[in-house]
Amino acid sequence: MRRNTFTRTMVAAAATISMLTLAACGGGSDDPATTGGGGGSSQGGDTIKVGFSQLGAESGWRTANTESVKANLTKENGFDLTFVDAQQKQENQIKALRDFIDQGVDVIAFSPVIETGWDEVLQDIKDADIPVVLVDRTVDTTVADPFVTWIGADFTKEGVTAGEWVKENHPDAKIFELQGTMGSGAQTNRQEGFRSVVGDNVIGEASGNFTRAEGKAATEAALAAYPDMDLIFAHNDDMGLGAIEAIEATGKKPGVDIKIVTVDGVKDGLQALVDKKFNYVVECNPAFGDQLAELIKKVAAGEQVEKSTIVVDEAFDQTITQEFVDSRTF
Ligand code: AHR
Repeated sequence: MRRNTFTRTMVAAAATISMLTLAACGGGSDDPATTGGGGGSSQGGDTIKVGFSQLGAESGWRTANTESVKANLTKENGFDLTFVDAQQKQENQIKALRDFIDQGVDVIAFSPVIETGWDEVLQDIKDADIPVVLVDRTVDTTVADPFVTWIGADFTKEGVTAGEWVKENHPDAKIFELQGTMGSGAQTNRQEGFRSVVGDNVIGEASGNFTRAEGKAATEAALAAYPDMDLIFAHNDDMGLGAIEAIEATGKKPGVDIKIVTVDGVKDGLQALVDKKFNYVVECNPAFGDQLAELIKKVAAGEQVEKSTIVVDEAFDQTITQEFVDSRTF
């Protein structure tokens, strides 16, 4: 069966051609670019009932993203938000999505912890005629037109940016890749992008599940297994911060004996960059709750929206200042 894979590459392509889709969701449309139907209590200016399934609270990035979502999907802004934290468990997310169907929300938004395993619940949401807004991560499903719109970062490009810095500055690096949650879009696409540039330099890999504790444990094991590794590419800041602890425990200097390249750019990560323990950080900006709120309003009203919205990212090296870090809002 052909799967409806929605990779970051496809996202970029979709954004390039500015593909528009009808915002409202539901069955019945013959146009593959639309998921028509929709409706709900939002019509006529009423409060929009939103069910948001956040995948967890595993990282500084996730905490900042949750704060941004909650700060924008407020009563004052016209939303009635039900927010559920799935604690990095897909079964918890599926239960929350089913609860949202039962509650008859106007719009379901969720950040899928991994890409696969959503077919049944996405079909049920579609049958219930509730529009879906994907946030941050993506899905790989057999369901046709499973969501109205997606907003998030270009994970593949983030991996490429990290790889290009390594290639230019440490072309002979022996790299250990500290991966995020296996099977998540953030893991598969960052890996794909990074390895497209410096794949031959990767001598080992393990998952730290995007958490500081598991990043530390994975680095401890890697230091024993790959004694000649001299650069870590961590798929997020938190795992890189865990790696610092593991490296320092062996008497080596993070940022010097073992270089560290990460993704996210949250305050703790940028502090490590100023402290010269990280060497390069590719941003993944979590503060897009305002853009999400605008999208959901349009979706609830049945207006046209872009199929994808890519959040703009930067990248930072050790030249950033303490003042810059202090002024960081996440
Ligand atoms: O999906 C985004 C990633 O998830 C962030 O880079 C990471 O910190 C988080 O856990």
